[in-house]
Amino acid sequence: MAKKTIIANWKMNPGTLAEAKKIFGSVKKTAQKLSHVETVVCPPFVYLHELWKGTSGKKCALGAQDIFWERAGGFTGEVSSSMLSDALVQYVIVGHSERRALGETDDIVNKKIHRAVKDGFKTIVCVGEKERDAHARYFLFLEHEIKQSLAKVTRAVLKNIIIAYEPLWAIGKEAKRPATPHEFFEMLIFIRKILTDMFGKKEAFAVPVLYGGSVDHRNAKEFLAVDGSAGLLVGRASLEPKLFQEILFSADLSAR
Ligand code: 13P
Repeated sequence: MAKKTIIANWKMNPGTLAEAKKIFGSVKKTAQKLSHVETVVCPPFVYLHELWKGTSGKKCALGAQDIFWERAGGFTGEVSSSMLSDALVQYVIVGHSERRALGETDDIVNKKIHRAVKDGFKTIVCVGEKERDAHARYFLFLEHEIKQSLAKVTRAVLKNIIIAYEPLWAIGKEAKRPATPHEFFEMLIFIRKILTDMFGKKEAFAVPVLYGGSVDHRNAKEFLAVDGSAGLLVGRASLEPKLFQEILFSADLSAR
C-alpha cells in the first residue's frame, strides 16, 4: 500500500525554541522507526533553520506554513521560496482557513500555489467549507474554492499538489466536532470529481487527499481507513508528542 502522509501543523506554537526542539526531537525519533509514513512537521518560520539542524536522513521532512509569491523585494514580513529552500523545507501549506480568515483570497492563494509548485515544493492546499447548510450549497462552495485556488495550474506541476480537506467547523478549540469518516469519504469523492473535470481522471486520482480537523489519537485510524485517504493534517494533537506518536503508529499500520 502507498505510504500515508502525516503532517503536523504547529500553527503559532510552541512559544519557545527550546520547546519546539523537544517536540521535534520526539517526533523525529518516532518517524525514524516507521517505513510506511511520510512525516512532515510545519513549525513557525523562525524555528525552521534550527530544527533542520536536527533532521537526519529523510525520515522527517520540514514544511512551512506559508510562502510569498514574489521571489524577493519590498515585501515586509513575507518569506520567499529561496529562504524556505535554504532551510531545507520540502512542503508548504497554502490557503489554510486561518489565513483565509485574515483576508487571504482565492486569488492570493492561487499566486502562492503557482510559486510553490514552480519552485518544487510539495504544496498542501487547504480547502473546506465554513458550515453545512440544508441545501448542500457547501458542495458548490468547495468546487468554487478548489477551481479558483488551482486556476491555471498545469498537469505538469500537479504532482506537487496535495489537497487537505479541512472543514472550518471541525478545526481548532472552537470546533463543533470532527467530521465523520463518512463525511470525509463523501468529500474526497467530490474533490476527485472536481479534479477530474479540471485535469482528467488519471491525473486527478494521483493527487493525494488528506483530512484535517480535530484529528486525535482516537479518531486518526478511522480517517486513515477511508478508501483513498492519503493521510492527515494535524493541529493541536501534533503538539502533544505522545498523542502524535500514536497517530504516526496508526498511519504506519494502516499503510501496511
Ligand atoms: P486541529 O487539529 O487543532 O483541529 O487543527 C486542524 C488544522 O487546522 C490543521 O491544519
